[in-house]
Amino acid sequence: AKSYEFVKVEQRGRVGIVTLYRPKALNALCSPLMKDLNEALQAFDKDEGVGAMIVTGSEKAFAAGADIKEMKDLEFVSNYKNNFLGDWTGINSIRKPIIAAVNGFALGGGCEVAMMCDTIYAGDTARFGQPEIKLGTIPGAGGSQRLTSLIGKAKAMDLILTGDMITAQEALASGLVARVFPAKDLLEESIKRATVIANMSLPSVLMAKEAINKSLELGLTEGLHLERRLFQATFGTKDQKEGMAAFTEKRAPNFKHE
Ligand code: CAA
Repeated sequence: AKSYEFVKVEQRGRVGIVTLYRPKALNALCSPLMKDLNEALQAFDKDEGVGAMIVTGSEKAFAAGADIKEMKDLEFVSNYKNNFLGDWTGINSIRKPIIAAVNGFALGGGCEVAMMCDTIYAGDTARFGQPEIKLGTIPGAGGSQRLTSLIGKAKAMDLILTGDMITAQEALASGLVARVFPAKDLLEESIKRATVIANMSLPSVLMAKEAINKSLELGLTEGLHLERRLFQATFGTKDQKEGMAAFTEKRAPNFKHE
């Protein structure tokens, strides 16, 4: 596998793990780091041997946000011409599921990258927040949109307008994260669940992810239409035949991802 400066990549069975690695700056998301992250995820997305991915950071920080030192002297016109942060959307085009495994700080762009993933598991010492307001700016990589759809308007306003952080338990209660584990167990537990997903039929997993993500963009009638067509399409896979045969034969299915 290719090696990168700001991320470490590892494969455990069918699970691809990308670890943000910029320890001196709490994984602040400088442009070269975002480029490495996107490339590493794209490589796993193309890899036939990978069925699910994990993005994680260190025990102290998932990521403490966009790189403040890199952006502090930027100006509007150059931001606009260069479409600053426009290149952060690469994660959205990854088709396989991505779990964000968050220990420590997930702030600003760090929280936004976690929310770009398909679900978030947190260590019990994790802290989430959108502190941009304290820097005289606002979230710029989806925070106002994704946080609002995940936790609702009242809580999103409360967090984004004060810049306060919430704990892993608060994030669990408000729907930002799906599960909380003891910090030291987070990665192994995340790998276990990613392995469960990665062993399901890949075509079904991709269709389920696509259908869920579209639910945030489509009206109910179009969303239900898409879901029914994708559901019907799963009957064109060998894995659907295997899954239903295994059930009737009272044995475990052996999916071939085709
Ligand atoms: N950008 C650049 N460097 C950062 C950084 C960031 N976002 N966050 C931390 N660092 C650096 C610090 O400058 C420090 O470097 P030096 O050792 O060279 O001084 C190093 O990481 C360690 O950080 P601290 O000494 O501050 O560690 P701490 O434990 O005392 O505090 C913290 C941790 C509360 C997370 C604090 O670092 C902090 O508040 N960071 C900034 C958080 C933030 O405001 N994030 C939002 C950024 S804006 C954004 O993300 C826009 C967007 O929508 C995309």
